[in-house]
Parts: sequence; C-alpha cells; structure tokens
Amino acid sequence: MTHNLILNTQTLDIPALLALQEKPAPFTPGEALFWNDPHISAQMLATHLDPTTDLASRRPETIDRSVDWILSTLGLPAGAAILDLGCGPGLYTSRLARKGFTVTGVDYSRRSIDYAAGYARDHSLAVAYRYQNYLELTDEAQYDAALLIFGDYCPLNPHQRATLLANVRRALKPGGRFVLDVSTRECRRKHGSRNGWYALESGFWKPGPHLALEEGFDYPEQSIWLDQAIVIEADGKISVYRNWFQDYTPESITAELEAGGFAIESLWGDLIGQSYYEASEWIGVVTRINS
Ligand SMILES: C[S@@+](CC[C@H](N)C(=O)[O-])C[C@H]1O[C@@H](n2cnc3c(N)ncnc32)[C@H](O)[C@@H]1O
Repeated sequence: MTHNLILNTQTLDIPALLALQEKPAPFTPGEALFWNDPHISAQMLATHLDPTTDLASRRPETIDRSVDWILSTLGLPAGAAILDLGCGPGLYTSRLARKGFTVTGVDYSRRSIDYAAGYARDHSLAVAYRYQNYLELTDEAQYDAALLIFGDYCPLNPHQRATLLANVRRALKPGGRFVLDVSTRECRRKHGSRNGWYALESGFWKPGPHLALEEGFDYPEQSIWLDQAIVIEADGKISVYRNWFQDYTPESITAELEAGGFAIESLWGDLIGQSYYEASEWIGVVTRINS
C-alpha cells in the first residue's frame, strides 16, 4: 500500500530527519524555552492541575503529604521564609502560605506564574511570585529553606547545575536548608520514551495537525537519558523537543551537592519520608549549606 505524504508542492526534508536520527551530544538543546510556548504552556498548566495524573505535578494527596513531611523534617520556625524554585502553578507555595510561612515562588512559565498569582489573589494568600529563570536568581541571604521539587535539577547540564547550586547557596541564610528530589535510572527504565510515532489533529505539542516521532536515547555510562520528540506539521515545519535527564544514585547526588557547598542531612526514597531502596525511582535529599 502506498500513500503520497506530500500534498501540493511541499517536499519532506528527509536529510533533516536523517540528521535528527543521530544521537545528540548530552544536553544539546532542542526548542528553546518550550515550557513558555503559548500552546505547550497551556497543555502543561492543564496537566499540572489535573488531580488524576503525576505527569507534570504530583497528585494533590501526595503534595499534601510532601508539604507536611518537608515541614516536619526541617522543623522551621513559624513564619520562616521559603523559596520554591520552579513553583509551577503554586501547588506547594499555596499550601506553605496557608500554614503561615513567608513564601516566594519562582518560575519561568509565564502562564503558570500568572495562574499562581491569580489563585493567591482569589484565596487571599500572601505569596510573592516572580517570573524568572532560576539560573539567573540573584537573591542574597533571604531564605531559611529552598525547594526544588519533581526532578527539576535533572534536566540541567553540569554548568547549569553548578550555577543553580551557587544561586541557592547565595539565596539562603547561614545554615539554610535545600530540599530537592532527583530521579534514578529506575525512573528512566519505567518512564523513558520508547521509540514510536503518532499523528494527531491537535495535541500536546501543537494546536494543529502534526506527526510526532518519539525516541529515547540512553547514555548509560553517564546515567543520562534523552526523551526526544520530533514534531512535523502539515507545512513540513520540523520542531525538536528534548527533555534531558541526569539520573542519580545516592552516591552521585551526595558528591555533587557536597562539591556545591551543601552538607547532606538525609537521603530518602521520595519527599514523603519513604526510605531509599534499591529500586527507588526517586531520591529525596535534605541538605544544609556549609557555612
Ligand atoms: C516538572 S514542573 C514542576 C513544578 C512544581 N515544582 C511541582 O512539582 O508542581 C517544572 C517547573 O519548573 C519550571 N522551570 C524549569 N526550568 C526553570 C528555570 N530555569 N527557571 C525557572 N523555572 C523553571 C517549569 O516552568 C515548570 O513549571
């Protein structure tokens, strides 16, 4: 059976597709800042707010438990200042503000920050929201604790990770705490992209008809994984979306955070207090800055 994939005078750019089949060097970027794309950010916000999925944010009952666990583990004084990096639509910040903490949320999805600020206004919650790239954070000695939740450390390249750690150190008060979770290879084994394709009238990546070619690339020596989606629109335009993941072991995250000036206080299997175990998909990390 044959079909003519090309209508009118368009030609399909096969050489471009051939080049995109090659395994890229680790952390080669795809489309820049795609979380801020008007269409994709709308899909993302809907996914963050969908209580039935763990795809963009964890489910509400998990977030409730996580906030309680983080607060009891840190034992912060009433009103302590907490910075949530990559706060998304404010699912953690809102809960922290309701418990009386002084909360700042930073995110570079304009749509998520606008939603979070609107929610805070409607519910009379005093959260300071800022549309900002946390790699450009300049706050100094302001916070008792900083949070980076749902694996947001893992898509960063080594230089960006060092920058982020320096920014968090600068932002924290002496003795301040930094809590984050990072994924493990087990997470990638379970959730990494498998090679496949689909065509849609409208979908996550594009509002109009498109063909998506999804592929997972493994870099086992470096514990790096790439989920790549090549998206071809009806006019032949090709967009490449890349999600990089640096996965960790307890040893590798300990070494990296210590090198960045943080002392590990405890390691967990998640951020709700489960012990770390061999097949954990996550590592929950509680640290304190070295003074
Ligand atoms: C997987 S979501 C997690 C959101 C939130 N922590 C949660 O668990 O509900 C990652 C968030 O980090 C934000 N983000 C990613 N890179 C960022 C950066 N460099 N600066 C600020 N925000 C960033 C994204 O816009 C997105 O809202």
